[in-house]
Amino acid sequence: MPIPDQFIQELKARTEIVDVISEYVTLKRSGRSYMANCPFHNEKTPSFSVSPENGFFHCFGCGAGGDVITFIRKIENLDYVEAVKLLAKRVGMTVPEDGRDDGMGKLKARIYEANREAARFYHKQLYAPAGKQALDYLRKRQLTEKTIIHFGLGYSPTSRFELVNHLKSKGFSGSELIAANLANQSQRGYPFDRFSDRVMFPIIDLRGNVIAFGGRIMTDIKPKYLNTSDTPVFNKSRNLFALQFAKNKADGQLILVEGYMDVIALHQAGFENAVATLGTALTNEQALLIKRYCDEVVICYDADEAGQRATQRAIGILRPTGLRVKVLTVPNGKDPDEFIKSYGEQGSTRFRMLLEKTGNDIDYAINKLRAQFNTDVTEQRVEFFNRAGPIIAEIQNPVERDVYITKLADELGVEKSAVSRLVLDYLGKRKNRQKNEEQRRAAKELSAINDRMNKEKQYKLKAATAEEALLAVMLKNPDTAVRIVDRVDPGLFLTNFNRRIYEVLEERVKNGREIGIEDISGDFSVDEMGRITEIMASRPRENDPMTAAEEYIGVLENEKERLTPEQIKQSKPEELNEYIKKLKKMKDKR
Ligand code: UTP
Ligand code: MN
Repeated sequence: MPIPDQFIQELKARTEIVDVISEYVTLKRSGRSYMANCPFHNEKTPSFSVSPENGFFHCFGCGAGGDVITFIRKIENLDYVEAVKLLAKRVGMTVPEDGRDDGMGKLKARIYEANREAARFYHKQLYAPAGKQALDYLRKRQLTEKTIIHFGLGYSPTSRFELVNHLKSKGFSGSELIAANLANQSQRGYPFDRFSDRVMFPIIDLRGNVIAFGGRIMTDIKPKYLNTSDTPVFNKSRNLFALQFAKNKADGQLILVEGYMDVIALHQAGFENAVATLGTALTNEQALLIKRYCDEVVICYDADEAGQRATQRAIGILRPTGLRVKVLTVPNGKDPDEFIKSYGEQGSTRFRMLLEKTGNDIDYAINKLRAQFNTDVTEQRVEFFNRAGPIIAEIQNPVERDVYITKLADELGVEKSAVSRLVLDYLGKRKNRQKNEEQRRAAKELSAINDRMNKEKQYKLKAATAEEALLAVMLKNPDTAVRIVDRVDPGLFLTNFNRRIYEVLEERVKNGREIGIEDISGDFSVDEMGRITEIMASRPRENDPMTAAEEYIGVLENEKERLTPEQIKQSKPEELNEYIKKLKKMKDKR
């Protein structure tokens, strides 16, 4: 790696993994390690552990794991060098200049620059003669000058070459513009502007980088909005529009709306804690992101049927994170932007009133349910009662749950104990189901990661298991690793993924470099690091590591002799006979 080992070691020495991770999740001490709910997947019982002694974290649920640098890469969505820089800044160290970025790091830096320059260009076009129509459009939608500037709104010109030409004159190459998705590639291979004749909304991340754009057409042509596709710097399911502003104004609460224009109208009206997804339905990753900045979220989606369906879905994603969820329904089928505009001067006050009388998601669900029944009719009242039970059982807090039990009992004129019993019944069922589901999901996720990382493992199970055991011995016993490297050629490894790990370790050992989990994290992706940490964490420490290693090496030598099913199919009969004889000999030896 380009960054010197010494620098990384110094950085590690000054960085306490527990302190860093505590900035993102609440850790609870548990023996020699710390536990928390995993920030990388939804869960209610902690399976995320941090070991200050070994300097690594590991989630038994989703398989994430690695050192402090891997943690930052994953949670901040950064590459290795960027993560090192962030951690270095924290402790007042400067990454040495010759610690140059790797290829991907360089490309990302170029894309950020190109995006920034594009945002400047689009913004300027808004005030050029060609942009008059777009500026009028924004003014017609009652955006003030201040708002237009605050959000850096712009206009992409009609010609399909203006941005490309402008950026080329600034030194960007065609392939950089295509990688940034600012340009598409024509059939003949030349780049042309992706956005044309649209009002442009830059999308900015938490560090102030322009990472993408949304572009709205001013006519009825479809699609209404065109968004940047995913690029090396942009993942639409991991970011939220305007979070860079909203996070500082959250004060415990964020408002989640559907559209860019809703966010902008709300910010202009003084609700600067509004955010939106980026042209897709809410994801788990976005829910966890929201959770990092507040404890209460108000869903404020469109009042139409699609919006209501999306609301139900969002509740199901937000609630499991532990967020308090409220639902604000805008009256008369309007979206938040239209609602505010329709009241002119009073828009802000009116929206504030809606916000104040907003019920939580339980109220929302019970009201929806009640509307389906005529509770004056006995059978319907019973049905309503039965269906309300599971909703109330969703409430985690027992005090809050009791409030709803009382309410429902009063409303229906039944004994409180009857409602309690119904709810408790569902509660028991739900807990069981939830536990089973969590376990099933965790197991599935784990095996998915294993499969993804080491695809050969499924049909070379024995070899891969021995390989992992051998790697674990090396990672845990650096002095034994030196002896293993003397004895084992990488060719002994049968699966490519494990062989690659071995080769990295081998090369480091031969050059007298360290091979702790934190030393090698620059050589692997975050998913790979998760797998490696798991290989290490899931095996007990051997009392006599070299003897154990000999045993694993023995297994691998045997496995190497074995033919794969594919090879057997292709063997000639006499070869096959030889092979069977050899196998028999191996068996006799044991
Ligand atoms: P809406 O259709 O509700 O648009 O889409 P809007 O935000 O109210 O926009 P205006 O008021 O008509 O200008 C909500 C969001 O869904 C995404 C965009 O993020 C939009 O803000 N979307 C919608 C797309 O990505 N593509 C589309 O074609 C339409
Ligand atoms: Mn709208």
